[in-house]
Amino acid sequence: MALHVITGNRLADGISVWFAGPKGWAELVGQAVGYDEAGLEAALAQANPADAELHVVDIRAVEVTREGGMLFPVAHREQIRARGPSVRADLPAGVWRDGAEPLPPLPSASSSSPFAGIYRYDEYDRDFLRQRATVFGEQVERRRKGELTEDEFKPLRLMNGVYLQLHAYMLRIAIPYGVLSATQLRQLAYVARHYDRGYGHFTTRQNIQFNWLRLEDVPDALAALAEADIHGIQTSGNCIRNTTTDEFAGAAADEIVDPRLYAEIIRQWSTDHPEFTYLPRKFKIAIVGAGHDRAAVRVHDIGIEAYRDAAGAPVFRIFAGGGLGRTPYVAVQLREDLPVPELLRYCEAILRVYNALGRRDNMYKARIKILIREMKPEAFIKMVEDEYASMAAGYCLLTDEMVQAVAARFPVPEFPRQDTGVLKSALLDDRALARWVKQNTHPHKQPGYISAVISLKPVGGIAGDASADEMDVVANLADKYSLGEVRVSHVQNLVLPHVAKDDLPALFKDLVQAGLATDNIGLVTDIIACPGMDYCALATARSIPLAQRIAERLAPKQHEIGTLHVNISGCINACGHHHVGHIGLLGVDKNGEEVYQITLGGAADEKAAIGKIIGPAVPTAKVPDAIEALMEAYLKLRETGERFIDTYRRLGAEPFKGAIYATH
Ligand code: HEM
Ligand code: SF4
Repeated sequence: MALHVITGNRLADGISVWFAGPKGWAELVGQAVGYDEAGLEAALAQANPADAELHVVDIRAVEVTREGGMLFPVAHREQIRARGPSVRADLPAGVWRDGAEPLPPLPSASSSSPFAGIYRYDEYDRDFLRQRATVFGEQVERRRKGELTEDEFKPLRLMNGVYLQLHAYMLRIAIPYGVLSATQLRQLAYVARHYDRGYGHFTTRQNIQFNWLRLEDVPDALAALAEADIHGIQTSGNCIRNTTTDEFAGAAADEIVDPRLYAEIIRQWSTDHPEFTYLPRKFKIAIVGAGHDRAAVRVHDIGIEAYRDAAGAPVFRIFAGGGLGRTPYVAVQLREDLPVPELLRYCEAILRVYNALGRRDNMYKARIKILIREMKPEAFIKMVEDEYASMAAGYCLLTDEMVQAVAARFPVPEFPRQDTGVLKSALLDDRALARWVKQNTHPHKQPGYISAVISLKPVGGIAGDASADEMDVVANLADKYSLGEVRVSHVQNLVLPHVAKDDLPALFKDLVQAGLATDNIGLVTDIIACPGMDYCALATARSIPLAQRIAERLAPKQHEIGTLHVNISGCINACGHHHVGHIGLLGVDKNGEEVYQITLGGAADEKAAIGKIIGPAVPTAKVPDAIEALMEAYLKLRETGERFIDTYRRLGAEPFKGAIYATH
């Protein structure tokens, strides 16, 4: 007869707890009482009295086995809830914060670069954020007193970016279009250090997630972030999320139009938009303005490519209906050359059609991508055009005056430094520097400058994670070398956008000292990986350990292999962009075993494509072998200078299938 224990998450801090009968709730599954089926119903009633919600949420029974007198959950997910993440053995055990210790002053209070690179908030904007933190504090208080039920409270916390994950509350903070001032990064470090367990996770949507917040600390953390003009508004829920862009925006030599200005305009238009706060489902917008798409616009709900028309005026190519998740699609194009004044009107027309017709009966069919395919792209485009044509003249028109007003709130950095040849001579006798410069820099539009990418993918590390100390180091380096600016890339790395070429050897030295000089950008170890089952309540597999094993296995050959995007998701929601990885890995649960489905040929740039599944899923332990075999086949088959994706496009999946399935 199946044995069960009763579990839930503690309201105060989200920690997994286990019902220990008359002793109440315990933090260790070993202290739980096991119930057979006869006793389970009564025990559930005992664990779930009328006031249970004041202490524990999501109370339920899970199956366990008894081995050597100990109880072990049967489901993999519950084992991870019981033990904690299977990664990060460095986390200190036990309670990491009791809330009693006084905290030091906020970094923003003594900032030397408060607005570097970012849109300049005024007191009105900042007050708005302070008020949101205060109101959320009141909502938390009401929840703790039982004046709000969990069902009533959940949408309120989600509106502020607070999720309940496997082990604790998670707070998601938007980094608008991936731009951070050094001060903002220090403020994020402060939250990681004092309210969390010392680190944060940068995501594919230019957000940062904190994994271990206590509920009562969240309003304080939000208040701290408000002082640096950052927040978690619209980082969850069925609204327009953080608009993302190219991490080299405003710096890249190949830039045609700086997308930050328009991303900020979209941010202002979409924040608390009264009509679009309860859409059928979440809605994601990305914009780029360079010859190369570095923001995956074709897999967004609306994707925008800014370029210049023959007269030199910015215009927009508009796409809609791209997306990943369980039904991935590359977006369809709606407009070729939308003029600037029409940008918001046209986006508004798209959203109105979606808001009116998007399915609300089935969350798996609720995204705009499904609506467009169900009604056919031509019919959808016609409806958008009709809606757009019917708008009152002047409605939501983006006037030049408005554009200029927003532009005026961005600081315009000066670039006085010239290239005096320091870098060139340093490269001659420092091979490590030469390799790092080749792999981790990007040409800047100012001749004396360059953009430097700081990899958050040390081999064997956790993709996208940065400790509070590392964030502080990067903030200091930004002040020292990059005009106080930092960027966050959608492949989960950080960027110092404006480094004088002459300073690059000194920056490299500082990065080596900080352990942040991994030279792997765009290579096989620069893996995108979502948090997977080590943290995520929706996961079916662990993605972080797999990324670590693949990176460890292939690191020795990564420079020989060259450009390769490996993307890993821990479930079909595809947060790790597996559909658009050159190699995509999707973790699934097959009768209690973690296995990975392999797709090949995906791409997220201007040649966007959804990868094709090449055959049966592979047991997780065998995936590094499979990828290694795939790479050996590629190295034999490639023509000179050919990237893996190009070899795949030339030859198809067939030669690679054999290599993969020969390994297991
Ligand atoms: C840990 C809590 C998270 C939860 C509960 C969550 C939930 C989801 C869900 C349900 C979807 C599917 C949406 C759909 O198909 O309609 C999704 C998609 C996505 N998420 Fe997450 N996610 C989480 C974390 C992340 C992280 C850490 C990243 C970045 C690494 C991320 C980035 C994305 C992206 C890029 C997509 C696919 C784009 C799309 O919406 O179609 N998410 N997420
Ligand atoms: S892909 Fe799945 S496992 Fe990974 S973060 Fe998204 S919802 Fe969680």
